[in-house]
Amino acid sequence: MGQDAERTERRKRDHLEPFRRGGVPARAATTWLEHVWLEHCALPELAADELDLSTEFAGRSFRAPLFVTGMTGGTPEAGRINAELAAVAERLGLGFGLGSMRAMFERPELLASYQVRAAAPRVFLAGNLGAAQLRTLGLARVREGLAAVGADALCVHLNPAQELAQPEGERDFRGLGAAIAEAVAGLGLPVIVKETGAGLGRRAGRALRELGVRWVDAAGVGGTSWVGVELARQGAVARGLDCFWDWGVPTAAAVAELVDEGLEVQASGGVRTGLDVARALALGARLAGLAAPVLGAYFQGGPAAAERLLDGVLEGLRAAMLLTGCRDLGALRAAPRRLVGPLRAWLEDAR
Ligand SMILES: Cc1cc2nc3c(=O)[nH]c(=O)nc-3n(C[C@H](O)[C@H](O)[C@H](O)COP(=O)(O)O)c2cc1C
Repeated sequence: MGQDAERTERRKRDHLEPFRRGGVPARAATTWLEHVWLEHCALPELAADELDLSTEFAGRSFRAPLFVTGMTGGTPEAGRINAELAAVAERLGLGFGLGSMRAMFERPELLASYQVRAAAPRVFLAGNLGAAQLRTLGLARVREGLAAVGADALCVHLNPAQELAQPEGERDFRGLGAAIAEAVAGLGLPVIVKETGAGLGRRAGRALRELGVRWVDAAGVGGTSWVGVELARQGAVARGLDCFWDWGVPTAAAVAELVDEGLEVQASGGVRTGLDVARALALGARLAGLAAPVLGAYFQGGPAAAERLLDGVLEGLRAAMLLTGCRDLGALRAAPRRLVGPLRAWLEDAR
């Protein structure tokens, strides 16, 4: 095995460890979704069994507006996690994202750890690559890799803060936009651009739209800190970057800005409850994504625990719809709401 491949495999293993013990959350930052107040409706004139949670994103319909976002692949354990969580997503009518497929491009024998189609033949399945890998691999190889796992879309992650916190991380971020534009024009599958927890804000959103991107995953601040994960892996090394633990765009601000830029938005980064999902949809998102809590539940109690967690989020969303008098998600996206506190100040201060 080459040195790069060895490093990638070790990193993928290290990345799972903290999520067996509660994850690596933001320190002081929050998602700011708590600053979106939905107007309570004491006279909803609705029955619980007539609620419609369906939505559309990246050219597909979903029974409910949730996505388990990309986490893992490249080891036998990762393969089990992918297959079992993809099956849960399929049962609930949600989307499922594979973790970065870089490992399988470096070592094709790892392909099996990304192959979930036997367990989840119909789930909406997103492949995943860093923009820097997209730049070097070229479209033909990427297309081949996506076909080998039966992906319906490609998530391209942008993660400059995480890379800077990794001693072996990328340091050259030039030419990533051109690689994304090429994929949008020539891949033949929807391209969803995401962050990994520092958020896509207005500037990135506008640039992406100009490159032809239609679908984005905000992956904002307030949930898992990937600078934090990388710093924790290295112990005392790289402490100069500790101040970036909570760096980035809070999820609610990212969602509002990306929607304003005309993009179709998945809200993620610290989304934990059905009320979080409802608040993100009221900001204009089409669906919401969760990563760390799903993996944490899986480590505690297997796929059944992950399914219970996601079911609980959907139960909370249904309650929020009833309490705001919204029969479907179109109504929720237009529901009366107030933006308060720092979220309001942030959006008013934009220039
Ligand atoms: C264990 C783990 C591994 C991850 N690996 C990837 C990855 O390979 N590619 C990617 O785009 N995002 C990756 N992420 C980021 C998530 O998709 C998500 O954007 C981020 O964790 C924020 O969501 P959360 O607060 O719900 O965890 C990973 C997250 C976790 C928890």
